[in-house]
Amino acid sequence: MSAEIIYGDQLSQTLRDQMKTELANLKKKGIHPKLTVILIGDHPASRSYVSGKQKAAEYIGMDSELLQLSSETTEEELLSLIYELNQDDSVNGILVQLPLPTHINEQRVIEAISPIKDVDGFHPINIGKMMTNQETFLPCTPYGILTMLQMNKIDIAGKHAVVIGRSNIVGKPVGQLLLNENATVTYCHSRTTNMKELVQAADIVIVAVGRANMIDASYIKEGAVVIDVGINRLEDGTLTGDVDFDSVKEKAGYLTPVPKGVGPMTITMLLKNTIKAALNQCS
Ligand code: GUN
Repeated sequence: MSAEIIYGDQLSQTLRDQMKTELANLKKKGIHPKLTVILIGDHPASRSYVSGKQKAAEYIGMDSELLQLSSETTEEELLSLIYELNQDDSVNGILVQLPLPTHINEQRVIEAISPIKDVDGFHPINIGKMMTNQETFLPCTPYGILTMLQMNKIDIAGKHAVVIGRSNIVGKPVGQLLLNENATVTYCHSRTTNMKELVQAADIVIVAVGRANMIDASYIKEGAVVIDVGINRLEDGTLTGDVDFDSVKEKAGYLTPVPKGVGPMTITMLLKNTIKAALNQCS
């Protein structure tokens, strides 16, 4: 069997076109959702992600601004900027691109962002709401993955989902979202001793580790749904995921590519969260 490939860029295009129409209608009512992105230093991958966010916002007609700060910016300076943006009614969503330089405490920064403008869904209040299955901003990559599954009408309830990776941004929250959808969830990580056996039992596999081609077909159950969150740049400059695409596509039921898979969905969900923030703030 050859897997059905889930193209996140195509799903994103559909969702972005819908949002473009929604924004045009909101603007007629005087609502202008605006996203402010803060980028500190010049981490090349972060620059590229931020530019993707700006371009997508522009495409749907969303106001966005990029505040680029030097890598020498102090934590106090960054916190003061966030407090200003929290007070600024023209700004609906605030995103501080991670990772931050090591002299800045990431958690303090995340907690400084007003939960009502936290379009990344990283604030502990929003994480708590997600865990208790309340309406909130869902973290963009997990939200994008859930949307990809739902748009393909893939059953989640009762399925065994194995999440490989336990980052705060992807692994932990995607497992929680799948649990909220009534999956049985297992987490694997660097200290897991029987990972292959666990993954072989999975109906849905989410791989978010950051190691090129780590998961090959020998890990995958026939017909499983495989979502590849990895973005790894090889020495020759090509981008590849954490999943060995060519071997896994012969065994999986569904598979996401890299690039054109989860990446575009992450940006799309950020735009969705920003529209939601603007609507919440004007009501
Ligand atoms: N760095 C990598 N992914 C993300 C993300 O989703 N949000 C932010 N703020 N930084 C990131």
